[in-house]
Amino acid sequence: MAVENTPAPVVVDLSVAEFRARLDEALGIYVAAMDYPRGTEHHRAPMWSEHVTRPGWRGVAATVPGTTGEADRLVGIAYGYRGAPHQWWHQQVYSGMRRSGWSDNDARSVLDNYVELTELHVHPSAQGHRLGEALLWRFLDDRPESTALLSTPEIDGEDNRAWRLYRRLGFRDIIRNFTFTGDSRPFAVLGRALPLTGPPA
Ligand SMILES: CC(C)(COP(=O)(O)OP(=O)(O)OC[C@H]1O[C@@H](n2cnc3c(N)ncnc32)[C@H](O)[C@@H]1OP(=O)(O)O)[C@@H](O)C(=O)NCCC(=O)NCCS
Repeated sequence: MAVENTPAPVVVDLSVAEFRARLDEALGIYVAAMDYPRGTEHHRAPMWSEHVTRPGWRGVAATVPGTTGEADRLVGIAYGYRGAPHQWWHQQVYSGMRRSGWSDNDARSVLDNYVELTELHVHPSAQGHRLGEALLWRFLDDRPESTALLSTPEIDGEDNRAWRLYRRLGFRDIIRNFTFTGDSRPFAVLGRALPLTGPPA
């Protein structure tokens, strides 16, 4: 009986040029992973393209090597950049922190030196094999910032892979049930101190 050998995915850094060249593929992963309606990618493309110009941007990909001359296939994507006070996300999180009881000093000290994980997605066909974890480790490896922050939709009982992953890697609550301007869904903002220590399991 013939046995089909699918090569194992590898996790690699993406240069800005590689990210731009694979933007459509990356947006396809995002739409499939988040189960968003087709067409969402067209709205996100300009934003993702602008994000690569931000200081401290880093992109990481999980790819399945192609066999016999085929191109490799993207199955996971993570990117983010250094946070800064003029950024919309920074301003939203600062006001959310203040509204949820953080003092001005404490909020500013968390937001003083952080990297934002902006996107992390693994194609549904490749989920459940710790690829998301490998992407997140690589993204956070050797960052110069002292804190990593991210936002993720609230889910009953924190019962999805994103929440389990973030908790496993030590992310803690910064704000819960927060609504960003223009989006009625509740989000959590989570954070952890850097560096991430210990090898990925
Ligand atoms: C969140 C996401 C990136 C995580 O990636 P992933 O590769 O699926 O998940 P992980 O790297 O955490 O791997 C998890 C799986 O590894 C396995 N695993 C976890 N710990 C393990 C261990 N100690 N030993 C063996 N296997 C283990 C489990 O099968 C686990 O699945 P489970 O959480 O359902 O039990 C991905 O599921 C995804 O794209 N989800 C949809 C989009 C999304 O929510 N993005 C984040 C938005 S903020």
